[in-house]
Amino acid sequence: MAYPKVTIVGAGNVGANAGLLLACKNLADVVLIDVADGVAKGKALDLMHMRSNEQFGPTILGTGDYSDTAGSNIVVVTAGVPRKPGMTREDLLKVNSGIVRSVLEGALPASPDALFIFVTNPLDVMTNLAFDIACLPKQRLFGMGGVLDTARFIHAISQKTGAEPAQIEALVIGAHGEGMLPLPRLATANGTPLPELLSAEEIETITSKTINGGAAVVELLQTGSAFYAPASSIARMVEEILKPTGRVLSVCARLEGEYGIDGIHMCVPAVLGRSGVERIVELELNDEELDRLRAAADSIKAQL
Ligand code: LAC
Repeated sequence: MAYPKVTIVGAGNVGANAGLLLACKNLADVVLIDVADGVAKGKALDLMHMRSNEQFGPTILGTGDYSDTAGSNIVVVTAGVPRKPGMTREDLLKVNSGIVRSVLEGALPASPDALFIFVTNPLDVMTNLAFDIACLPKQRLFGMGGVLDTARFIHAISQKTGAEPAQIEALVIGAHGEGMLPLPRLATANGTPLPELLSAEEIETITSKTINGGAAVVELLQTGSAFYAPASSIARMVEEILKPTGRVLSVCARLEGEYGIDGIHMCVPAVLGRSGVERIVELELNDEELDRLRAAADSIKAQL
């Protein structure tokens, strides 16, 4: 059976686990590419050894060579370095924007029709930089942040209300970091609006758990940051692109006037499909929510 082809740039914990999920869900053949090509090849071989147990069809190839990524339908970019002690935000931006540039130089000529999903942190800034470098149509280049933040929000709501995650509708938009905007007013659990189920204090606790979800994992791990939920959020987006359901996800997508914000990528409700970002959904936000979304846009712009 011929599967779509998804390249994952960066064979670290996020990239490799995203590859594992894509293969196990029979969604796509995966190419894991990394400058440390032995790591990419080793993890790909290890994943291929799972095939008989898990009975998945797709293949996983590890490589350091962009020619192996040719003809990918989707390229997911997880490559980048985390901020190290002594490094300023500007230092980090310089290093990671260099990485993003070289990834695009390698991946884009090999897969000129691919959709690009950026995951490298700081996510909002990197996705905007990549968009400026790549000169691709806005539908084809976007970022993963809101799906992860929404997954954490739903987890926190589920823990507090006892509702199954599948029975919870919720979204987190804004920036992936400071400026994150969970939307409890519009969330429901088993069909009931959250503000009818929980007190203002309980909702405040849930939103703060959401915003601090990534930091909580970092603190517990001591070394490194979250990877299972980020990998699952990548797989969720890829699945929605390859098998569109029309569901609204939070996607770091280009705004051109929606919500009164122009010329910037940030996490907003959107529908994904075969062409990438099919449309941005404009929710009826109240004044406070809109103010916070616009403030998040300004703070991302200030970092570019
Ligand atoms: C997080 C980082 C990885 O939110 O962006 O966990």
